[in-house]
Amino acid sequence: MDFLKLIKQQRAEGQKEAWTGTLVDYLEILRENPDIAKLSARRLFDSVASYGIESMNESDPRCKKLFDGDKLKIYDYFKDDFYGHERVIAKIMRFLKSASLKGEESRQVLLLMGPVGSGKSALADAVKKALEKAAEPIFHLEGCPVREEPLHLLPRSLRDQFEKALGVHIEGDLCPICRHRLMEEFKGEYEKFPIVRSGFSQRGRRGIAVVPPMDANSQDVSALIGSEDISKLDKYSENDPRVLSLDGAFNVGNRGVVEFVEIFKNEIEFLHTIITATQEKNVPTPGKNAMLYFDGVIISHCNESEWNRFKSEHTNEAILDRVVKIEVPYVLELTQEMKIYDKMLRRSDFRYHLAPHTIKVAAMFSVMSRLKSSQKCDLLTKMKIYDGQEVVEKGRTKKVDIKDLRDEAKNEGMDGISTRFITKAIDSALTDSDKGFITPMRVIDALIKQVKEQVVDEEKKKNYLEILQKLIREEYLKILEGEIAKAFVTAYEEQAQSLFDNYLDNAESFTTKQKLKDRVTNEEREPDEKFMKAIEEQIGIVGSSRDGFRADVTAYMFAKVRRGQKVDYKSYEPLKEAIESYLIATVKDLARIVTKSKSRDNEQQKKYSEMVETMVKDYGYTPESAEEIITFAANNLWRDS
Ligand SMILES: Nc1ncnc2c1ncn2[C@@H]1O[C@H](COP(=O)(O)OP(=O)(O)O)[C@@H](O)[C@H]1O
Ligand SMILES: [Mg+2]
Repeated sequence: MDFLKLIKQQRAEGQKEAWTGTLVDYLEILRENPDIAKLSARRLFDSVASYGIESMNESDPRCKKLFDGDKLKIYDYFKDDFYGHERVIAKIMRFLKSASLKGEESRQVLLLMGPVGSGKSALADAVKKALEKAAEPIFHLEGCPVREEPLHLLPRSLRDQFEKALGVHIEGDLCPICRHRLMEEFKGEYEKFPIVRSGFSQRGRRGIAVVPPMDANSQDVSALIGSEDISKLDKYSENDPRVLSLDGAFNVGNRGVVEFVEIFKNEIEFLHTIITATQEKNVPTPGKNAMLYFDGVIISHCNESEWNRFKSEHTNEAILDRVVKIEVPYVLELTQEMKIYDKMLRRSDFRYHLAPHTIKVAAMFSVMSRLKSSQKCDLLTKMKIYDGQEVVEKGRTKKVDIKDLRDEAKNEGMDGISTRFITKAIDSALTDSDKGFITPMRVIDALIKQVKEQVVDEEKKKNYLEILQKLIREEYLKILEGEIAKAFVTAYEEQAQSLFDNYLDNAESFTTKQKLKDRVTNEEREPDEKFMKAIEEQIGIVGSSRDGFRADVTAYMFAKVRRGQKVDYKSYEPLKEAIESYLIATVKDLARIVTKSKSRDNEQQKKYSEMVETMVKDYGYTPESAEEIITFAANNLWRDS
């Protein structure tokens, strides 16, 4: 890395931003591109939109299954950071769009309301960052504490003409500080007022202001509108604007964003400036000065109980009237919820191996904890339907309409386990693990522990424990059974192959009505009906369909051989499936022996190693995590049955 080059490059970038000129220079620039004088909402919308907008694609299965074919707008800007929040983001952007078209929304506060950890702060953050990342620098009066629009210099009498000539819209008046400077320094010759250019920065307090919640004692409206600098009072008279320190949130956030964090934790009096800021686009100045023009997007967030409390006070009506509320519920789509934890882990410093399905069981818990139960199906099925999965039960797809499920569950997603609860449990499982990896069981255990310690509501606690100890545990065992069985079959490929050969001989003999010749003894005998039935049963082939199946298999294999193709037990999918499950069913005992480390003989040890190898190669385990999982399976699956 060339440090000097990097430093110089950064400085050059900064200088590109730097620009000084006069009002006339600025007017020429506007003549070329009147967009430069756009208001804050439009600037914000454009910065996000500049990353690209697509419509949700109809061929995307989520579109049809989960979004009712709604071709939602997808904003690329949020793509890598937010999952399953497409609807919320579309609503936020719709708000900004109408605000940028100077609709009623341009005079409203955007309020994100939802449960803890649903992503409200993260969304507000992302929106603010769009200004830092993508907005063009703005032109403003030099030295102005609110970085005001240079067009404010133009006297009212000329504005109509300039608006027409340039195709811009001019609103707002000079701030008291610039007005004073104009009169004193430039004797009212406004074309001489220097104009500069600068960008947005939250840390630099340029165009992005954040108001944290303040308690009754410490909250002071100066945090919003600035104050009078007492130290300057002996230098200037009280009415002199030079005593003003315009460093409040509405000053800093002018032309950009003002964010109220957990807005209703503040006393209501503190919030009254919001009314004039939205309604009149004015905020008070400290002391006896006139109101100050304000152009900025106001974003805020709160949780549901705060919102309900606030709403129930009729004295709050004036502010309520100014609020556009967008609900930010928890994600209820399993696959998307998993992506959230993936993201968080990727960005943390933990460098551990997660055994397959670890994130999945964690996400299953949070999603199920958020779902309302239904008469139409069990919770696990509901979770799968909400995830767009086909749910097959007794051989047929379960037909439950997602719309019906959603309709009957009012207010779903506003309650349950938060993303933070899950990441804390994953973190503690990782920290406790001295092996460098964690497995689903360890995360389930960590979650159980955390629920017992931290969930206060007894009914919820009971419900959550049932989800973890019963629903998720059983579902995980089912997943595991399938996975280990497959690995097991791979280790027993030879047996599978000989079952296949044997079945084929029998089926051929049955179909061609010729006696069967034993491969070893050369003896002739009748086909083994019992053996064939046992295989066929595995995939539900019974009664009269047997003859057809046997004929099909025989014909298929003959055709393959004629074409000079190799046949093995994997050649014909239905037969392969039947053989695998037959093998597993008959070797449950064997499976137990192989998976128990104590009683393995050499041959079994070899099979065991092959199993581990398959789990590493095909499923993404490490040898260590595979061993732990197999031991767990040995103790919990294939119990004597
Ligand atoms: N849908 C989502 N997509 C991506 N990350 C999310 C989502 N929901 C929550 N998060 C993450 O969860 C964490 C907590 O979110 P946060 O914004 O602090 O919640 P809130 O302010 O609503 O309490 C953040 O790291 C956030 O990025
Ligand atoms: Mg928050």
